[in-house]
Amino acid sequence: MRLVLIGFGNLGRGLARALLDKGRALHSSYGLRTKVVAVVDEYGAAVDDGGVNLRRLLQIVEGGGQVPDYPGGKREKPAVEVIEEVEADVVFELTPTNIETGEPGLTHIQRAMRAGRHVITSNKGPLVVAFSELERLAEESEVEFRYSASVGGAIPVIDLAKNLLAGNEIRAIRGVLNGTTNYILTRMSKEGVPFDVVLREAQELGIAEKDPTLDVDGIDAACKVVILANAILGMDAKLADVKVTGIRNVTPEVTKLARETGYTVKLVGVAKPDLLEVAPKLVPLGHPLAVGGTLNAVTLEMDLAREISITGFGAGPRETASALIGDMISIHRSVGAR
Ligand SMILES: NC(=O)c1ccc[n+]([C@@H]2O[C@H](COP(=O)([O-])OP(=O)(O)OC[C@H]3O[C@@H](n4cnc5c(N)ncnc54)[C@H](OP(=O)(O)O)[C@@H]3O)[C@@H](O)[C@H]2O)c1
Repeated sequence: MRLVLIGFGNLGRGLARALLDKGRALHSSYGLRTKVVAVVDEYGAAVDDGGVNLRRLLQIVEGGGQVPDYPGGKREKPAVEVIEEVEADVVFELTPTNIETGEPGLTHIQRAMRAGRHVITSNKGPLVVAFSELERLAEESEVEFRYSASVGGAIPVIDLAKNLLAGNEIRAIRGVLNGTTNYILTRMSKEGVPFDVVLREAQELGIAEKDPTLDVDGIDAACKVVILANAILGMDAKLADVKVTGIRNVTPEVTKLARETGYTVKLVGVAKPDLLEVAPKLVPLGHPLAVGGTLNAVTLEMDLAREISITGFGAGPRETASALIGDMISIHRSVGAR
């Protein structure tokens, strides 16, 4: 399977490391041989038909270099050209999320599909802006489209719902979908520290971004609600359809009172056919959604299975590589089964 990686940041590098670690196992367990034939960042590309030496490329980039510093690298070679010119089976789209335009990921995904490449992405932007258009384009182009890494990091909630729980009517999805806000609320609740103080410490620890708006105002969780609603409930939701309240107004008094009465405050995303919402909610202590720290959790409510919950790490290069590699194996299986 010939792979192209667009974006070589945290996740691109995490995927490269996982491919290096698991090359042999992928072949022996799944009959899957992979070869990365191109990697692109904002500055240019490394292209090698015989296979990019990922160890070497990781050394270059982790030493402060850029992808086109790779021997024979092509400076200012844009991703769209690589996608169209380099023969490949799968394009991984791992560029930064832009929730207003979906770009540059949206164009990368569209061009890849039109060129007959299967696409795997972790990028919420294109999914939030143009979910149904991309699903349609994948179908018309007869390619596979996977985005497990875009929601819940390592948690395979989309596959769980669509494959293993197929046959159930999924009536509601509730989730703690943002690790940063969960970390802040957990510390506020346990230590009685005010929001501003915990946020500053989370920023110092690299858990919260310098500009924490998307996380603390609930927008990142709302993007995930949109993706879950569209992918699992078959809706055609957009970000504007989600009623969003962030956590800025949660006080230590509220978290303390909640605790004393057997609850904890969580930023919960809800996707139901008649309601898309993100808001701080009281969750009973001991409920599967009452996860601590940066963990994520999702509960599916169904007609047959009733309730199933799943918990795990919602971010991180290694954790997210689990979802990206899982998507790749899933494509290998479904293409092989055609
Ligand atoms: N980090 C996580 O745990 C996590 C989890 C789930 C989903 N995600 C999503 O996954 C995506 C990647 O995350 P990340 O943490 O790896 O981000 P990141 O560290 O910022 O890396 C983004 C990469 O994309 C490259 N890039 C930017 N614009 C480009 C363009 N026009 N053409 C080609 N490459 C371009 C950047 O290149 P330069 O370095 O040269 O600028 C960089 O290599 C994001 O959409 C993020 O929201 C992340």
